[in-house]
Amino acid sequence: MSNVTLPTTPESILPLVLKAMSRTPDARLRELMASLTSHLHAFILETKVTEEEFERAVKFLIDIGQATGEKTNEVILAADLLGVSSLVAVLNNPANHNDAHAQAEAASHAALLGPFWRANAPFCEAGANIARGNTQGMPLDVRGVVYDKHGKPLANATVDVWHASPIGLYENQDDAQENMNLRGRFKTDAHGAYFFKTVRPAGYPVPTNGPCGDLLRAQLRHPNRPAHLHFMVSTPGHKVLITQVFADGDDNLTSDPVFGVTAPLVGDFQEHTANGKTHATLTHDFHLTEGEMTFPHPPIP
Ligand code: BEZ
Ligand code: FE
Repeated sequence: MSNVTLPTTPESILPLVLKAMSRTPDARLRELMASLTSHLHAFILETKVTEEEFERAVKFLIDIGQATGEKTNEVILAADLLGVSSLVAVLNNPANHNDAHAQAEAASHAALLGPFWRANAPFCEAGANIARGNTQGMPLDVRGVVYDKHGKPLANATVDVWHASPIGLYENQDDAQENMNLRGRFKTDAHGAYFFKTVRPAGYPVPTNGPCGDLLRAQLRHPNRPAHLHFMVSTPGHKVLITQVFADGDDNLTSDPVFGVTAPLVGDFQEHTANGKTHATLTHDFHLTEGEMTFPHPPIP
């Protein structure tokens, strides 16, 4: 007993924990856990977390886990609302950094994946309409070119798109929509071009019926994302680009609850009226960087 070190003060616990974890064979796991634990201890000491507050925090973690399932992912939503998902996206995509290196890189800005991407959206012919069934809304034509880092068009790249309906609901949140409505994958042609038809998406509130909604309300924050389309652009030999394109003029561009908007991601939506009918167009190019083509795990099935 005499050689054993036991904690004597709040500050004396951390060195013991770090020592206990120090033999972790996986070097990156060792580094991450040591840093995370150090920050957690510092946070608890700095804010003097009470036993009741600790219990409340544990309950929040249990609640977001239990509220995660087929339709939504409250764990990802929590990371989104804390700005953590956007931070990871910005950190890992140098084009998003506002410095000389980023300017030299012509790569597209990335944005968070969000909780609603589904793997295996149907492959569609160029020009196909992803507004399936009886989806009403302003027609929108979307086109652009996918380039490599040298500005060379990339043929046969995959452009995976998903977005909310004109009433602001993803297909899996809304029984009135067909399975895979407003989702599709398109291949670029020999000139790197993609083209599809859809309807203009509306902005929408992030889900507020779970523990994350309680957190937003406690913080007096609004839940409304600016209208956007999600894209995942991929081709072998290139880093998968996960991004979003936002509707210019949307009131919530500067108060996105998940901090996903950067200036280059505000799209140039044009509206055209002919014979009393209005339709919209969006032209948006994507610039990929070299790297491994690794896809994320789908947040929902
Ligand atoms: C989305 O854009 O689909 C999204 C992102 C973060 C939270 C909720 C929704
Ligand atoms: Fe979205």
